[in-house]
Amino acid sequence: MSGSAQTSDNSTPLVHVGIIMDGNGRWAKKRGLPRTAGHKEGLEVAKKIVKACAELNIKYVTLYTFSTENWKRAQEEVGYLMGLIRGHLRAEFEFYKANGIRIEHIGDLAELPPDVAEEILKAKKETENFTGLTVVLAINYGGRDELVRSVKKIVSSCTAEKDINEKLISDNFDIPELPDVDFLIRTGGEKRLSNFLMWHSAYSELFFTDTLWPDYTPEEFKSNVEEFYKRTRRFGNA
Ligand code: IPE
Ligand code: IPE
Ligand code: MG
Repeated sequence: MSGSAQTSDNSTPLVHVGIIMDGNGRWAKKRGLPRTAGHKEGLEVAKKIVKACAELNIKYVTLYTFSTENWKRAQEEVGYLMGLIRGHLRAEFEFYKANGIRIEHIGDLAELPPDVAEEILKAKKETENFTGLTVVLAINYGGRDELVRSVKKIVSSCTAEKDINEKLISDNFDIPELPDVDFLIRTGGEKRLSNFLMWHSAYSELFFTDTLWPDYTPEEFKSNVEEFYKRTRRFGNA
């Protein structure tokens, strides 16, 4: 299955895949390794899945990388994750270039360590003209936080009540043009959203797999995408 993501009768193309990459810590624990080893392995898997998304002509993939709630974790783990993100963005320009990948970010940049925020802005700038897959990194992201920040922007622009509508709210999100999530995959066995793109997932097809993120493969991903094309999407229609 390559060349096109649209391979079955489902007439809604798969434009935007959201992935909650969960299970790194448990993967490491099973091997007697520190949680950080799971995150390191998880990054390698993320790169492979991104490549698979490009092969399937998917337009957007959003990777849940660090939530607004993940600051609750041990300082050591948080520091490791920030370092991993920074190092990856710094080192992977050639990977993005070779695969035509544009990097985008959602989440509160202002509350990230300045060196991480800087690296995100740099990767966005360097890849802004690439026209293949857009990889949206959700870092310091929370669906509620994004909504609160949108409301703040609207209030500070003194918008009249009659002008408040769904489009205005989403126009004030981190990436106004980000399409709804068509297919939401969560690895690691938990069946919850954990504050991921809740507005954009209102009509997503949900898929949960027990596979821990570091064990997830492009083959499993492609087979999950096949499952997406078997779903009937109604969007409220009869
Ligand atoms: C997901 O894996 C990665 C991040 C949240 C950064 P976890 O670290 O949550 O792994 P588990 O759920 O503890 O196994
Ligand atoms: C969600 O996973 C966040 C990311 C994958 C970045 P968590 O492991 O933080 O979610 P909970 O705490 O199990 O809900
Ligand atoms: Mg987890």
